[in-house]
Amino acid sequence: MKIQENISLKNYNTFGIDVKARFFVEITGLVQLQKVLELKAYPKKFIISGGSNMLLTKDIDALVMHIQLKGISLVHEDEDTVEIKVMAGENWHELVMWSLEQGYGGLENLSLIPGNVGTTPIQNIGAYGVELKDVFVSCAAMDIKTGELEGFDKEACKFGYRDSIFKNEAKDKYIITSVNLKLTKKEHVLHTGYGSIENELRKKGIVHPTIKDVSDAVISIRQSKLPDPKKIGNSGSFFKNPIISKKTFDKFIKKHPEAPFYEMEENEYKIPAGWLIEQCGFKGKRFGDAGVHEKQALVLVNYGNATGKEILALAQKIQDEVKKKYNIKIQPEVNIIK
Ligand code: EPU
Repeated sequence: MKIQENISLKNYNTFGIDVKARFFVEITGLVQLQKVLELKAYPKKFIISGGSNMLLTKDIDALVMHIQLKGISLVHEDEDTVEIKVMAGENWHELVMWSLEQGYGGLENLSLIPGNVGTTPIQNIGAYGVELKDVFVSCAAMDIKTGELEGFDKEACKFGYRDSIFKNEAKDKYIITSVNLKLTKKEHVLHTGYGSIENELRKKGIVHPTIKDVSDAVISIRQSKLPDPKKIGNSGSFFKNPIISKKTFDKFIKKHPEAPFYEMEENEYKIPAGWLIEQCGFKGKRFGDAGVHEKQALVLVNYGNATGKEILALAQKIQDEVKKKYNIKIQPEVNIIK
């Protein structure tokens, strides 16, 4: 086990923010992870996996543990379904591609989401009408204090819209080491109701889509709207879509009848933050190397050498403008490390 010093994290976070880790170690096994957690010489620890949902605003004065646990194994199989266990350091999109090659359904709408498997339960990743919780069975997580492995089933994870126990009560207490998913082997349940998927399939003349067709459609849509983090630093949606009460919504829609919205359960409404931000004039705007993506206003980008503080300042400016113009508070989805 090699502990390195003063390592740049630029290549370890998809925003491409150049901050330094005081100490850095690659974690490739569970026993090694337990040993590292016990190291008294490094009392402060910081976990990084795919680095796709964080904004680093300063150097990390801690031992940064880069989770590289790998492997996919079969847990259970019957005629119709399969349960697989995927280690936390596997790349999410590569897992989706692998599942399609096996003919397993369930992950196709979640194609091309950046990041690694271990972080997917934290924010219950979602896209085009599907969320992780729809295929999730359980995950294993190591208690950072005791080094013990614990299991969390779906209920224990308390999943919500871009939310779970790991963003709340269990925040910073665990390292997710593996995730179990249940996928279909036949009679796949396709989710093609999302408008842009329907359009994409129609454009290609596909009437009876396969799971691969749905994945291809999602990939085309994402590539046309969302920047590739390998080319332009970003963390996907920077903000969550705000959820407002019926009372607030009624006032809002009366004033802005043209606004898009989704009706939720329990008298709540979700307003696309991308629309609010675009209406405030930020879409495609650039402030130095920090900017708002030209095709999707929900995504903040680093054109090269923006600092985390510059991105954060832009985010705050956007939040203030949206609040001023619409009296709606938008909250970051990305984990901001201050
Ligand atoms: N819109 C605008 N301007 C914009 C962006 C969006 O007016 O710049 C409007 C669109 O016209 C549309 C509505 O907002 O009416 C919704 O837009 P879109 O379908 O692009 O989805 P979104 O609500 O902006 C969410 C997720 C994305 C996910 C898509 C598709 C959140 C925070 N974001 O975005 O997730 O890919 O739906 O399901 O819920 C991510 O989390 O990193 C992410 C990319």
